[in-house]
Amino acid sequence: MPLKLMLVGSGKMGQAMLGGWIDEGQVRPGDVVVIDPNSENLGVATGLGCQGIASPKDIPDGFQPDVIVLAVKPQMMTDVLPTFRTIVEKGPLVISIAAGTGIARFEKALGSHAAIIRVMPNTPAAVRKGMMVCCSNDQVTPEQERHCDMLMAAIGSVFWIEDESLMDAVTGLSGSGPAYVFYMIEAMAAAGVSAGLPEDLAVKLAEGTVAGAGALASQSKETAAELRRNVTSPNGTTAAGLEVLMADDGLGPLMRKTVAAATRRSKELG
Ligand SMILES: NC(=O)c1ccc[n+]([C@@H]2O[C@H](COP(=O)([O-])OP(=O)(O)OC[C@H]3O[C@@H](n4cnc5c(N)ncnc54)[C@H](OP(=O)(O)O)[C@@H]3O)[C@@H](O)[C@H]2O)c1
Repeated sequence: MPLKLMLVGSGKMGQAMLGGWIDEGQVRPGDVVVIDPNSENLGVATGLGCQGIASPKDIPDGFQPDVIVLAVKPQMMTDVLPTFRTIVEKGPLVISIAAGTGIARFEKALGSHAAIIRVMPNTPAAVRKGMMVCCSNDQVTPEQERHCDMLMAAIGSVFWIEDESLMDAVTGLSGSGPAYVFYMIEAMAAAGVSAGLPEDLAVKLAEGTVAGAGALASQSKETAAELRRNVTSPNGTTAAGLEVLMADDGLGPLMRKTVAAATRRSKELG
């Protein structure tokens, strides 16, 4: 039986996930109701053939979803959750992708019998290359876990954790991580310009190098460290560059500080 799905929030992440689910045949557009007061974002969902409504009070009579996906900003949850309490009492799986919002908060707002899975995705889900880390409460049935697995696998790789406290570090690493890599591309391109390259060539070389190295790392049987050693000849150009990047004040400590700051912010949001 195809899943009936309700998506609450059709912004960047909501759209990325919905597009993937429809393209991969996980849901049929006619079985999806999308709620979003932002008419432009809602238009993207209706353009895919889903039913779009601006508010939960317009939920069509008789529509009972198997899965409700909450994809609104964490600060909107206080307003949003109480409006779904009645519909959640009928037993659908609730999936939240909100950063820093713990399962206990959903149980409090939706009732202790609510089946909740917290997922931390990332934006490469838009090109089916997301990293999705999931954590469920004990009300979730094995069938509901399979439903979540199926939805998330359609847009990337899925990992399950039992210890919810790890979600803050997951958020700091893979949730926020795409932005670190985008900044790395910007920084590499700027460094290429400083070294004398024309800007358009530097940008293309930086983007392509990050994308190519990422693809090689994910497809190769060798670890990133082995791949790095393979291309580093003693006294060569790569060794000269890595000497700077791997110095005591190089990328290692900087990345630790970066992930720690994002992890801390995720805890604060909670
Ligand atoms: N973006 C990321 O990289 C990323 C990664 C991992 C997790 N997340 C999580 O994903 C969630 C969504 O993030 P996003 O980047 O997709 O945000 P977004 O682009 O701002 O999308 C949120 C959407 O929800 C709408 N909305 C506001 N109030 C609503 C309500 N009461 N009911 C239904 N929809 C409502 C917003 O409308 P308005 O524009 O009118 O406010 C907007 O269209 C967040 O909780 C975030 O923590 C995001």
